[in-house]
Amino acid sequence: MTHFPFVSAARPRVAIIGAGCIGLSIAWRLAAAGGTVDIYDQGSSGRGATHAAAGMLAAAVETEPGEQPLLPLTLDSQRRWPAFAAELEAYTGLPVDLRTEGTLQVALTRDDVEVLRAGYEFQRGLGLNVAWLTGAQVKEREPWLNPRAAAGVLGADDGQVDNRKLAVALKAAALKAGARLHEDRAVEALSVTGGRADGVVVGGEVRHADVVVLAAGAWSRQLAGLPDGAVPPVRPVKGQMLSLRMDAAQPLLHHVVWPPKCYLVPRLDGRLIVGATTEEKGWDDRLTAGGVLALLEAAWRALPGVEELPIEEMWVGFRPGSRDDAPILGPVPGVDGLIMATGHHRNGILLTPGTADLLAHHILTGQLDPLLAPFGIDRFQERKTNGMRL
Ligand code: GLY
Repeated sequence: MTHFPFVSAARPRVAIIGAGCIGLSIAWRLAAAGGTVDIYDQGSSGRGATHAAAGMLAAAVETEPGEQPLLPLTLDSQRRWPAFAAELEAYTGLPVDLRTEGTLQVALTRDDVEVLRAGYEFQRGLGLNVAWLTGAQVKEREPWLNPRAAAGVLGADDGQVDNRKLAVALKAAALKAGARLHEDRAVEALSVTGGRADGVVVGGEVRHADVVVLAAGAWSRQLAGLPDGAVPPVRPVKGQMLSLRMDAAQPLLHHVVWPPKCYLVPRLDGRLIVGATTEEKGWDDRLTAGGVLALLEAAWRALPGVEELPIEEMWVGFRPGSRDDAPILGPVPGVDGLIMATGHHRNGILLTPGTADLLAHHILTGQLDPLLAPFGIDRFQERKTNGMRL
C-alpha cells in the first residue's frame, strides 16, 4: 500500500511522454492515486539520462553561483529522498541503494584549496550543511585518497542512489500501480484541439488524454505539434563517464568524492563511477580519448589506487539542459492540459521525488505548489515592454 499523500476525486487519463525516472515516478504517483496512465518511450524505459547518470543527491555540492533560485527545490527534493526510497523499496521489494555517507569535496594543491574555500564560503552563505576539513581529517575519512590531500568540505546531507536500480524499481512501481508502459513507441505528435492538449499521436492515431506530461529529457523539444511558446528550450549537454570495478568488500571509497575535474561515486556492488565531462556537442555520442583521459587522470590524481582497477564500462549521456539550466515544470500558459516535466540538467535524479510529488499534486488538485512557481515555461516566453523585446 503506497502512502501517496494527495487525496482527490479526480481520476484523470494521463499520457506521459518519456519513461525516465521523471516520467516513471510521475506515472507511479498518478496511477497509485487512481489515474489512468499511459507512458510512452521511443526506446526502453530508463535508458536515457536516467541510465547515464551518477545518481548523486548533491544539493549542496552541485549548487553553483547563479543557481540560488534552484536551491529551495533541490533541498525540498533532497529531504524527500529517504522516505521516497523506503516507500519505493517497500512497494516493489527492489533495492535502490540509497547511501547517506555524504559528499566530500577534496583539494589536492594550494590553488585547489583557494577554489575550495571560495565554494565553501558560498555554500555556507546559503545556509547549507557543509563543514571544512583539514587534510588529516579528509584522510581519516577516506584513507586511500592521495596523501597530499590538503583540505576538504563535507556535505553531510548529500548522498547517492543507484540510478539504474532506481529505474528498474520505478518501472516496477508504475506497473504495479496500474500504469501501462509502451516501450519502443515514439509519440509522433502532441494533439492539440482548440488550445487544449487532448492526447498524443501514436501509430498515426490520437490516443486521447485529459493531461499530457512532457518528460522526454533532452529530446523534449523534438515533439511535433507543440504550439509556439510551448517548445521547451532544452538541449543535450553531453557527458562522458566510465565505471571501474573495485573489490566490494574492500572499496577504495565510501563517500561520493569531488576532487578537481571529476567526481567519484562508489557503489555498494563495487563499481566506482567516474564522471563526467560537460560538452556542448549536440547529439554527438562518441567517447573521445581526450574526455576519457581527462577523467582518468583526475581520478588517478585524487585516488592513485584506481590505476589497478579494471575498466568496466564507458558511456555518453545527454543531460537535458534548459536555457538557464533550471528545470521546466508545470502547466503551459495557453495550452491547457499540457504539463512540462523536463530540463532537469544535472539534477534529474535528485529532483525525482519532488518533481513527481509536486506535479502529481498539481495534476490531481489543480493547485500549484509555490516551489514550482519559478520554473514555469512562461519564464522563456517573449516579454515585451513598449513594443521592445526584452
Ligand atoms: N550531476 C552530475 C553531472 O551532471 O555530471
